[in-house]
Amino acid sequence: MSTATPLNLADMEVAARMALDRATWAYVAGGAGCERGIAGNLEALDSVWLQPRALLGGTPAQTGCTLLGTRLALPVLLAPTSPQRLLHPQAELATARAAAEAGSISIVSTDSHYAFAEIAEQAPQRCWFQLYAYRSQRDVDASLDMAAAAGAAALVVTVDASFAARRLSTRRAGFHVPADIAFGTLRALGIGDGSVPANGRMERLALRWEDLERLRRRWKGPLLLKGVLDPRDARRGLDCGVDGLIVSNHGGRQLDAVVPSLWALQRIVEQVGRARPLLLDGGIRSGTDVIKALAIGAHAVCIGRPYLWGLALGGQAGVHSVLTLLQAELQDAMMQMGLSSLEEIDPDCLVDPRTLRARAPSWGADHA
Ligand SMILES: Cc1cc2nc3c(=O)[nH]c(=O)nc-3n(C[C@H](O)[C@H](O)[C@H](O)COP(=O)(O)O)c2cc1C
Repeated sequence: MSTATPLNLADMEVAARMALDRATWAYVAGGAGCERGIAGNLEALDSVWLQPRALLGGTPAQTGCTLLGTRLALPVLLAPTSPQRLLHPQAELATARAAAEAGSISIVSTDSHYAFAEIAEQAPQRCWFQLYAYRSQRDVDASLDMAAAAGAAALVVTVDASFAARRLSTRRAGFHVPADIAFGTLRALGIGDGSVPANGRMERLALRWEDLERLRRRWKGPLLLKGVLDPRDARRGLDCGVDGLIVSNHGGRQLDAVVPSLWALQRIVEQVGRARPLLLDGGIRSGTDVIKALAIGAHAVCIGRPYLWGLALGGQAGVHSVLTLLQAELQDAMMQMGLSSLEEIDPDCLVDPRTLRARAPSWGADHA
């Protein structure tokens, strides 16, 4: 690492901000509009509190879980991001290796710098392919065939980024995707020549539910939808046969003032239950955040910006240290709370001041 060892992700954010130029930092950190969506994710997590239990002994807390058949050392995956080459020459190769080393999973963007097949080789069974639908149905089918042949352990269909976002802070900072960034997966698919388009973004197909049904028929492995926020969409996705949902507002990068993903998760859990895996991303910055998300109903979480800070600071080692920091924090918090396994995390692990106010008892005159 290039600076004094960070003790938590906040230290890492500060160090990454110092290490990156202003425009690159703005691209990674920024979001849509006035960035209320980014703030909302953080505020929602900050607004609930952990409820520890007493006298439960000192069993070491186990942070492992099984997700769609894969054993994870911690319930934290690396969300798809691009272009990682902005932050480190090894880009997605380093990220995939770090995820595998830490017992996690890397979800690889269609917009990756390196070709998906090359990335997946770094971390067998621990890379999922995230689909952006480019150009035509035929190209989408070819993307799925390529991902299956390369050994993608799951397909993640992002549903919240069909249209370019109004990223004002990124524009103000004068960010442009540098010419040495490539789109290796797209090049391998023959979609474009692998170079950055003049306006920095290739047009995507705006997927509809009937497209999802087609994708579901074609993709034989686990399929997750990423970017679902409304319980009606969650229900419809599950009815289409998806294996899991990633409740996400794209880290506040697509729509300003979007509902915080934690509150969206809460409504989805209430209305569709937890029979199939629910993942959450947006604003996860600590082990205690992981517990909060699991207590609301997530089976696991994803992180985006935090591992990019690690990638910028130290490539594979930097991403690995983000995951090990989170695991250490999670284990510590579980033990402080009297929890020995993730299965014990439930809504009683949280105090939500909104419901406290709603339930506040009347003390009566004799308590005056
Ligand atoms: C720089 C950057 C690039 C991203 N690129 C993608 C992408 O290619 N595909 C995708 O589905 N989501 C993308 N996302 C969204 C992340 O997958 C994830 O939803 C988000 O970062 C989670 O919020 P967090 O950064 O607060 O953890 C990107 C996010 C960032 C910060």
